[in-house]
Amino acid sequence: MLESQTILIAGALLLLLLAWKFRNFLVFFWHEQILPFIKDFMSGLSKEERILDWVKQHAVVGDPQSVLDTIDQYCYQKEWAMNVGDVKGLIVDKVIEEVKPKILLELGTYCGYSAVRMARLLPPGGHLFSIECNESFAAIAQQVIEVAGLQDKISILKGPSQEIIPQLKKKYEINTVDMVFLDHWKSCYVPDTKLLEESGVLRKGSVLLADNVICPGAPDFLEYVRNSQRYECTNYPATVEYMHMNDALEKAVFLG
Ligand SMILES: C[S@@+](CC[C@H](N)C(=O)[O-])C[C@H]1O[C@@H](n2cnc3c(N)ncnc32)[C@H](O)[C@@H]1O
Repeated sequence: MLESQTILIAGALLLLLLAWKFRNFLVFFWHEQILPFIKDFMSGLSKEERILDWVKQHAVVGDPQSVLDTIDQYCYQKEWAMNVGDVKGLIVDKVIEEVKPKILLELGTYCGYSAVRMARLLPPGGHLFSIECNESFAAIAQQVIEVAGLQDKISILKGPSQEIIPQLKKKYEINTVDMVFLDHWKSCYVPDTKLLEESGVLRKGSVLLADNVICPGAPDFLEYVRNSQRYECTNYPATVEYMHMNDALEKAVFLG
């Protein structure tokens, strides 16, 4: 009797220990898989469609800040989404204000939150090209961008980054980029950085700004840029969008 109680308590403790060790994964799994599954079933819409509906109902047309505030409010109050968010967004704003990019490239548009965030700070004549491989996310982002009134400043390039980056010069007539915001799948950061180098769109002084380098994490990207003589790096600690977990952005200035 005593033996089976001891086994039960040990098993419960082990489960608790495992849950604690994998807590970040479990939180993401809950917010990214379980909750959206239930809400999709109940609403007949995807999470991204629900965000777009919310923006159309609550944001002021032609006011980018109102679009950002509306999406942030939705993600704090209704359901989590993988936008860069308001906290890391302030760091992105700061870097954009320093770099003053005329030509800005984004990898990973999702619903267009960071595209609106960055394009609202571009200097006159500046343009943002944002690459997104998911057709339905790209369509939603286009509508979010139109509510913000930034459609003349942002072009969404639909397709996988690894196919589009080699076409930037010839097909999209982009000679060099002043800044790249990397915010797509983390396993693509290093291969796409190498593609950007090979395609010749990076010039001396081009700035790479990478999100989520701690959570979910891009250790291979950090190792690549920090150990290369071709980059000068700065880390900006922050928290995961709409949560309290640690994260960071990494700025890597291309030295040529
Ligand atoms: C974290 S979300 C982007 C969030 C967005 N930057 C924001 O802050 O509002 C990542 C997006 O990258 C897209 N993505 C992932 N890998 C990609 C790739 N190789 N090429 C193009 N898009 C990609 C996904 O479909 C997803 O929409």
